[in-house]
Amino acid sequence: MSIGKWLAAPDVAREREFERENVLRKREQYLATNPLERFGSDPAYRAKVERIEQGLGCCSGPVLDIGGNTAGEATVMQQRGYSMLVGDINEAGLEISRERVEKFGLRQPQYVAFDAHHLPFRDGHFAAVTIVEALHHMVDYDRVLREALRVLRPGGRFYAMEPNAWNPIRRAGEVRDRFRGTIEKSFYPGQLRDLLEKAGFKAVEVRGFGIDKPDWKLREVPAYRRWLFRLHTKLGLEYPGVFGSLEVLARKSGEMTSEGDASDDFAACLRSPGGDRPLEFDTASARWREVGRQASYSDLNGIPVIVRE
Ligand SMILES: C[S@@+](CC[C@H](N)C(=O)[O-])C[C@H]1O[C@@H](n2cnc3c(N)ncnc32)[C@H](O)[C@@H]1O
Repeated sequence: MSIGKWLAAPDVAREREFERENVLRKREQYLATNPLERFGSDPAYRAKVERIEQGLGCCSGPVLDIGGNTAGEATVMQQRGYSMLVGDINEAGLEISRERVEKFGLRQPQYVAFDAHHLPFRDGHFAAVTIVEALHHMVDYDRVLREALRVLRPGGRFYAMEPNAWNPIRRAGEVRDRFRGTIEKSFYPGQLRDLLEKAGFKAVEVRGFGIDKPDWKLREVPAYRRWLFRLHTKLGLEYPGVFGSLEVLARKSGEMTSEGDASDDFAACLRSPGGDRPLEFDTASARWREVGRQASYSDLNGIPVIVRE
């Protein structure tokens, strides 16, 4: 990577390309892993999913997971009774998830490829929104959080996990990742609280937590760096405020009404990016069209790709 690219501001198209290559490189590995089996056999993975579920509390309406990648955690949650809609800028990751769910005979979450800065959903559709280790990949946090708030119902819940900027080991890794071509950043707890409050969220709570790392993550680390990975995990468990991660819990103001709780009708909630125009599927062209306009979007094996070119 050139110094020019390294210095360049983060860019959504570049991030999409990076994630696409990354996920396609590991395609066979993803397809070989049953997320539900991993949930049963890997205590650290189980702890991550349970932490997200606890953060959401019980939730009967549709849950939007932003930046879900290959949707491992969301797939497990779907089997455990949640109604998940997983979105990512990288449709290749969603497609791998769809294939994997089919292969292992699991209940399928719904998928939509989108840019989180312009969510293609109507206002107030979701009972909850999660962003797990993905907000720091975005270009404009304020815009993404305002979009998350827009698509939440009154009283809806928000849950996020993000890296902690106080963590010196994490910060050193960010320099390396910048050279690899991805946006890796982290947040100070107060910075996250300010971002959420500025976007309009209520009851914002940010806290540090330590979590064991799943075995497969350790196996992905080159052998010469495993000692550092283990040390990092141990420090995170002992000093979560510095070496752990951050979790964010918040709500949209208002009371959640029971009205519409069962309404997780997928196509009915789709809109043009940013939420203003309804979309309909045109079977002749096999594309999603903005009602009353020419603009249209592709479909990848049943996954709407609602991203403006
Ligand atoms: C580190 S992954 C997080 C994956 C998953 N949530 C997890 O916990 O394992 C970050 C994800 O954010 C996605 N992403 C980055 N920019 C995005 C954007 N503008 N809109 C939607 N997703 C985006 C990436 O494609 C990637 O899949």
